[in-house]
Amino acid sequence: MGKNILLIDKLNSTKELTKEEFISLFSTFTDEDIEYARSIACKIRDKWYGKKIYLRGLIEISSICKNDCFYCGIRRSNSAAERYRLSKEDILECCATGYSLGYRTFVLQGGEDLYYNDDVLCDIISSIKKLYPDVAVTLSIGEKTYHQYKKYYDAGADRYLLRHETANEEHYYKLHPQSMSFTNRIECLYNLKKIGYQVGTGFMVESPYQTPETLAEDFIFLKELNPDMVGIGPYIVHHSTPFANEQSGTSRTTLFLLSLIRIMLPYVLLPATTSLGTIDNDGQIKGFLSGANVMMPNLSPVNVRKKYLLYDNKLCSGNEAAEFKSSLCKKLKTFGFEVLDSRGDVKKEPLHN
Ligand code: 5AD
Repeated sequence: MGKNILLIDKLNSTKELTKEEFISLFSTFTDEDIEYARSIACKIRDKWYGKKIYLRGLIEISSICKNDCFYCGIRRSNSAAERYRLSKEDILECCATGYSLGYRTFVLQGGEDLYYNDDVLCDIISSIKKLYPDVAVTLSIGEKTYHQYKKYYDAGADRYLLRHETANEEHYYKLHPQSMSFTNRIECLYNLKKIGYQVGTGFMVESPYQTPETLAEDFIFLKELNPDMVGIGPYIVHHSTPFANEQSGTSRTTLFLLSLIRIMLPYVLLPATTSLGTIDNDGQIKGFLSGANVMMPNLSPVNVRKKYLLYDNKLCSGNEAAEFKSSLCKKLKTFGFEVLDSRGDVKKEPLHN
């Protein structure tokens, strides 16, 4: 049997690999290895979650950002970016639309926009929870202090998404300016866990300067953090960033890594991301066939969707649009999947069977 098949088996039985083993796997995987990991990952996903796909309505609340990440289209220095911010009323309107479509998780995602101070945010969060007690509110608005995260949690936020982006400090500063802090980002994730949030982290696949070694560190970090959700998608070029001439990542590698994450963290919520669907027309379906179980259709007001442009050609219509839920359900059904109509919390407790 091939060496990588044995490594995948080892990952499946012990739920970990050494850094050297990860590096070797990431440096040499073949189509056969991808298929092998895929079939194990789907069995694990089916055992924990069945064929249910968990939907989250994604509300992109602001394209204004104080940060200057080299890969991101809404970075502060991109003067060509169109900026907008949603008011509390706009956001509640999105929630009303989403609720009537059957969405029971709302993800408020945005650039780090200081207009949303703690009072504004807590008011928005508690208003949503008051109107819709059976929904989960997820925040994805970047780095804050422990105290701030705690306030949002007490106001009713249930989950928080903050990708670590890379677990290798040197790599982190190739993707972000020195004014950002790798240490702080990691600390944020541990703070969120400590407070009690369901926590999602993740990284871009084949981002500039990513290597088998930095990826191995990502996997070791994921194992250690033990998050509830892991979002990964291919890095995709945005034409007006410092990385305009870099290469985008591939769906092939993304799908393999999705399977490996499912194998390593069986219970994890694993989205088939918009970027995967952008780089590959069938990317999201292939994601579900590789072990993913979450999708986050776009619930932002239609007139701002084109402005939240993290990367070129970002999907925001078709099955990516929240209002096309019924056509999405139909499509998923042809592949044997069904959509879940409730909050869709993580199933972290050990399985008894
Ligand atoms: N390509 C792919 N993903 C990107 N993100 C930001 N810019 C890009 C890009 N050019 C991802 C980051 C961020 C998430 C919201 O979007 O990983 O955490």
